[in-house]
Amino acid sequence: MRRNSRGLDLSDPLCLEELNRGLQAALRRDWSAHPLIGGRAIDGEARTVTDPADRRRRVGQSVWARPEQAEAALATAHAAFPGWAATPAEQRAACLERIADAYEAHTHDFMALCTREAGKTLADGIAEVREAVDFCRYYAAQARRLFAEPETMPGPTGEHNALSLHGRGVFVCISPWNFPLAIFTGQVVAALAAGNAVIAKPAEQTTLIAALAVRLMHEAGIPPGVLNLLPGDGATLGPTLVSDRRTAGIAFTGSTETAWLINRGLAERRGPIVPLIAETGGQNAMIVDSTALPEQVVRDAVQSAFYSAGQRCSALRVIYLQQDIAERVTTMLRGALAELDIGDPALLATDVGPVIDTDARDTLEAHASKMTAAGRLIARAQLPGDTAHGTFVAPALFRIDSIKELEREVFGPMLHIAHWRAGELDRVVDDINATGYGLTLGVHSRIDETVERVVKRARAGNIYVNRNMIGAVVGTQPFGGEGLSGTGFKAGGPHYLLRFSTERVVAVDT
Ligand code: SER
Repeated sequence: MRRNSRGLDLSDPLCLEELNRGLQAALRRDWSAHPLIGGRAIDGEARTVTDPADRRRRVGQSVWARPEQAEAALATAHAAFPGWAATPAEQRAACLERIADAYEAHTHDFMALCTREAGKTLADGIAEVREAVDFCRYYAAQARRLFAEPETMPGPTGEHNALSLHGRGVFVCISPWNFPLAIFTGQVVAALAAGNAVIAKPAEQTTLIAALAVRLMHEAGIPPGVLNLLPGDGATLGPTLVSDRRTAGIAFTGSTETAWLINRGLAERRGPIVPLIAETGGQNAMIVDSTALPEQVVRDAVQSAFYSAGQRCSALRVIYLQQDIAERVTTMLRGALAELDIGDPALLATDVGPVIDTDARDTLEAHASKMTAAGRLIARAQLPGDTAHGTFVAPALFRIDSIKELEREVFGPMLHIAHWRAGELDRVVDDINATGYGLTLGVHSRIDETVERVVKRARAGNIYVNRNMIGAVVGTQPFGGEGLSGTGFKAGGPHYLLRFSTERVVAVDT
């Protein structure tokens, strides 16, 4: 039976010592990324990649692709597709399993890059590698289930009808910086498992992690032309990749605005009508009633809102506290905010690392200034002095009347508190639904009827009851939203590969 990866145990001193040695060795290297087309690395002007926790620190260098290289990647992937599509599903699945093994063998390298290129804490780095490994093994198992044998359909005597699934062609996978390994890998290996050729376009901020991942995928047996890497600017490469007739599908995780752009690009081309699998933003809330356990609420809210510096699409943005317990929970949240350890994500004690770049920091600070000027600030953590050279944002608590006041997703460590009174539960759920987003929702209550009422009324893809609302587990909590939050099917779920494939029926008169 397939098991999820176990990750590393940081409470084990031996494991920790080995990790430290591994991280130091990884950090002494100078990492690099290039466009990789048919296995050939393309040279060009290199950009220096620096560490979000300290911008003076160099991590490596990245050569970005130009539009003509997007063209070359499309031609290469298109030519490689038939061979890969004809490769038995069993062999494709076995490749994915070798990728999982290779990732596990390179855990320290990936963790070092997650920390230094993406600003992730060590705990987040471990979770990131685990999730990527789990995607590989889970989709390998799904590929065997779905693609190995055609399904015989019922029909009249003298006729044999078989339904089979196939790759669609060239899939363009556009992934975000907040899960630079897990989501990058999940998209790519799902497309490959289903028999597609792939052009991977990682986020501009995290190309080094992607380059290492692709090297390991090639070493694990994915043919060079079947998987091509285009580090580079989305706005420059996107139009070529989206408008080309050879693009047979797009997997995208990122902002809702970019998903609209891609959707429009696909709609405007005179070519095959192809799927867009989009996982986008959220305006995620947690509803807490007066029967909830305050300590548990505070623990789960802090993890959901502030860990990973709030840079998860699943992260909590608005906590709705029932009036009777609002003051008590708010006081506890203020206390918890002051206790957060903010700083170098490579240190084990750190709870909150930097945000990804100066643009992210500026957007968050603009939001904080606006809320503060409107008299909405409840509390803000202090940034320690040694964070001055990084892009850190002090976690904050704000008071709002309703989720309706937030015009857009606040993608960082900022939590908004709203209150509600008995009798207003349905209205609260309706307000949350009315944002149009539907990704994660938390509920804290010890009354089953309240929980059921919320679950029935809510339109959210992943609902978490009496726990935190981050860290969906592959194969256990398939992840993804509805409405403005995405198209489905859910990543890490049994239907995900179906959207990467096309169905064919062969009817034979026997
Ligand atoms: N899958 C992540 C989580 O569940 C979010 O992208 O937190």
